[in-house]
Amino acid sequence: MKRILVTGGLGFIGSHTVVELQNSGFDVVIIDNLSNSSIKVLDNITSLTGIKPDFYQIDLRNKQDITHFFNTNKIDGIIHFAAFKAVGESVKKPLDYYENNIGSLVYLLQEMQHKNIDNFIFSSSCMAYGTPEKLPITEQTPSNKAASTYANTKQIGEEIIQESCDAYDLHAITLRYFNPIGAHKSAKIGELPNGVPQNLVPFVTQTAAGIREQLSVFGNDYPTEDGTAIRDYIHVVDLAKAHIIALQRLLNKQNKQNFELFNIGTGKGSSVLEIVKTFEKATNQKLNYKIVDRRPGDIAAIYADTTFANEELKWKAEKTLEEALKSAWEWQKNQ
Ligand code: UD1
Repeated sequence: MKRILVTGGLGFIGSHTVVELQNSGFDVVIIDNLSNSSIKVLDNITSLTGIKPDFYQIDLRNKQDITHFFNTNKIDGIIHFAAFKAVGESVKKPLDYYENNIGSLVYLLQEMQHKNIDNFIFSSSCMAYGTPEKLPITEQTPSNKAASTYANTKQIGEEIIQESCDAYDLHAITLRYFNPIGAHKSAKIGELPNGVPQNLVPFVTQTAAGIREQLSVFGNDYPTEDGTAIRDYIHVVDLAKAHIIALQRLLNKQNKQNFELFNIGTGKGSSVLEIVKTFEKATNQKLNYKIVDRRPGDIAAIYADTTFANEELKWKAEKTLEEALKSAWEWQKNQ
């Protein structure tokens, strides 16, 4: 049984990936510092799969703790989620973001090199492309300057991994996610935003639940069909499954290069108003919303070309937008 380390394994995408790993027969060990997650998630994963993953509350900025972990654990592969991810905050606290997102990554790669551990999956973002010049985005689309410190940590992180793969003969896959939404169908795990949600779907579900009074739709004067901004929303369970496939590709030595990069999205763009309408239809809830000014820093549209992931990984997003929004609502009701 292969033992896989999942850093940030109690977070939104991490927890769904742990479940898929366990369902695929992997032995999972989680490292999480609980900075943006709850220890209850560990019990929820356990009740879902029937297997309690090993758990270490470690802060990956602490090199000694990481070294001790790897001295006492035999690991066959790593899926690295643990990172700060608030775009607005990242611009106000760049050094915190570089220390956490880049520092921890370097420590992990050093341990891999010292202990001869291979097979690294990196959690990246479509924001690593910067503002795209052409849509849809393929893996060949050149990356522009990152629009925030957060996005820059993903760009720089990928460069560090690529150089490490070349220098130390490591094998890594980076997955550039588009907009992950939804929750596990059991409604036992899902997205747990800290305070007022910044992302669209948690704000939508909290508004429907009466926790927020009204959803603000940020701008209806974009050059899109209905004037609201377009994103590629992917069900978190589809996204989690992409990690298992990428990991198996590395473990089975099917990768074609030491460092590979894939877009993980649906390939379909949806506008904010489409999200509102689809949510209302899928859940039978009326959503109180109003149009307000654009949110600074937002771009009009971004969505993936997923041909490479579809053909090379044999992975495809399977769940519909309705399913994703309905699952997010079931999760919200369960809170
Ligand atoms: C954000 C993050 C990105 C992350 C992604 C998924 C920013 C700038 N980027 O992307 O790093 O990978 O989430 O977690 O924060 N919207 C509203 N009203 C709201 C909230 C959002 O109209 O209350 C609109 C936004 O203007 C945008 C769309 O909904 O057009 C999606 O927003 P959001 O969920 O925050 O995702 P992104 O900004 O695309």
